[in-house]
Amino acid sequence: QLVLDTLDVKSTIDDTRLLTIPGQSQPAASHEDQITILGALNSLLSREMIVYETHEISSHALTAEGSQIVNEGSHEARVWAALPEKGQGSPLTPIQLKKQVGDETAKVGQGRAFKNGWIGKEGDGLVKLTATIQDVTQIDLQEIASTGMLKAGEKTLADLRKRKLIVQRKGQWFTVRKGSSFSTSTAKPETDLTVDMLTSGAWKTSKFKKYNFDAEGTPTEGGALHPLLKVREEIRNIFLEMGFAEMPTSSFVESGFWCFDALFVPQQHPARDLQDTFYLSDPKEALPPEPEYYKRVSMVHEHGGFGSTGYRAPWSHAESSKLLLRTHTTASSAHMLYKLAAKCRGEKVVGDADEFAHGVSTTDDAEGKEQDDGFRPAKLFSIDRVFRNETMDATHLAEFHQVEGVVADRNLTLADLIGFMRVFFNKMGIEKVRFKPAYNPYTEPSLEIFAFHPMLDRWVEVGNSGMFRPEMLEPMGFPKDVRVHGWGLSLERPTMIRQVILCAFSMDYDQPRLSSRYGINNIRTLVGHKVSIEGIESSPAVMF
Ligand code: PHE
Repeated sequence: QLVLDTLDVKSTIDDTRLLTIPGQSQPAASHEDQITILGALNSLLSREMIVYETHEISSHALTAEGSQIVNEGSHEARVWAALPEKGQGSPLTPIQLKKQVGDETAKVGQGRAFKNGWIGKEGDGLVKLTATIQDVTQIDLQEIASTGMLKAGEKTLADLRKRKLIVQRKGQWFTVRKGSSFSTSTAKPETDLTVDMLTSGAWKTSKFKKYNFDAEGTPTEGGALHPLLKVREEIRNIFLEMGFAEMPTSSFVESGFWCFDALFVPQQHPARDLQDTFYLSDPKEALPPEPEYYKRVSMVHEHGGFGSTGYRAPWSHAESSKLLLRTHTTASSAHMLYKLAAKCRGEKVVGDADEFAHGVSTTDDAEGKEQDDGFRPAKLFSIDRVFRNETMDATHLAEFHQVEGVVADRNLTLADLIGFMRVFFNKMGIEKVRFKPAYNPYTEPSLEIFAFHPMLDRWVEVGNSGMFRPEMLEPMGFPKDVRVHGWGLSLERPTMIRQVILCAFSMDYDQPRLSSRYGINNIRTLVGHKVSIEGIESSPAVMF
């Protein structure tokens, strides 16, 4: 208001340091005053009521010691004041002086008072030599306190700075002129166009606040990865660190052929039941796989081959061409392994299979000569969603995540698989692991992996693994000495072992199960649309 009123009378303010803020006796020359004025100027500027120019100056401010001198006089003045005049009263010894004015003042003040000729010696003591003094330091500092400057000039200022009584700082002052919307009324402009304003017509005369496109806006709250995604990232990093390449897993829909047949899962296997697998009604059939490969797969199922007797059950093309939601990511692994074997089948390789392979691997022919049969070793992994036909309830979901790895090389052994699993789980922080023989249609031997759960104080199953059968690998075209081992686990289970999200799915092939005893008694508080955002942000998992 002061600025507006002054402008109303004078139309410009040449120097804001000459304004007198109401309630103050002195003009607003100090740094603090100019800061206050700047705030007002900016607010008026945003309403286009004024325009202003800034002028930089270097000004000075008092230190604590400087302020004390303004109030109580300089050290030398205090020393002088404490002493009796010459010939009147008994002189003070230096020790008595110290007692009166304090150590610091006595020490600093005595020298200066001597130099100024204010005091002198009488016997062992000290006395005043002059009846009055002019405390220049105090006067200078007073000037600085009220104006930020000193007329006496730079030399004195430099001296006061050296004595640590003042500090230099950048100051500002302003010249102000009327703006395009100048008025002496500071009524706040409207920020919102309301229904009332529209109906009453008040909007026509209202003043609206301008948009400030330079405003920084309210800071956004930090986001957080869902605990499962966080753990997925961790596991992905473990794989990458171990030299694995990530498989493409974007096709949730697979055919019975790729999800089961290619893996030598018998066509009558219970996992292929409607109760366990979601089938698609439209489209009715999958596109046929490459005919020669299809023939080899159906052969090994129905009649055997590659050293196997097969299942000796009639082959159903209908079963093979059904479309379904993949029940495991091993379907994706089958695609990749088939691609990896392309060169071994004598196909020209275009696309991604070679991209995932590691170097060249040769084999010896009958004469012991090295030859390239097209096989390329590979280490592949995936972490993605799988689907099983479960009735959804508090402890069951119809979809969950699988972590899967496959390693293909010549002459791998079961010991390689076991050794590998130990390293892998170790990297996930699971140190105690145990293996138990198990059965999978596509692996032989197969091993279930158990980890010791320190909180539950017992062994829990964390994964399933094995060495892929020749009935699966050889129809793809892999040479006989190539072994592929693979393993799968749920993403949710190791997360539980780490006691981060206290929930779990069982790795039982046809029963993903969440155990309520681990703290979360409804899986839907973790996955799905009912997940609470705060719950995720405060989950310890996101703080890894
Ligand atoms: N597909 C298996 C499962 O769903 C896991 C697995 C993958 C086992 C690869 C062996 C080899 O449980």
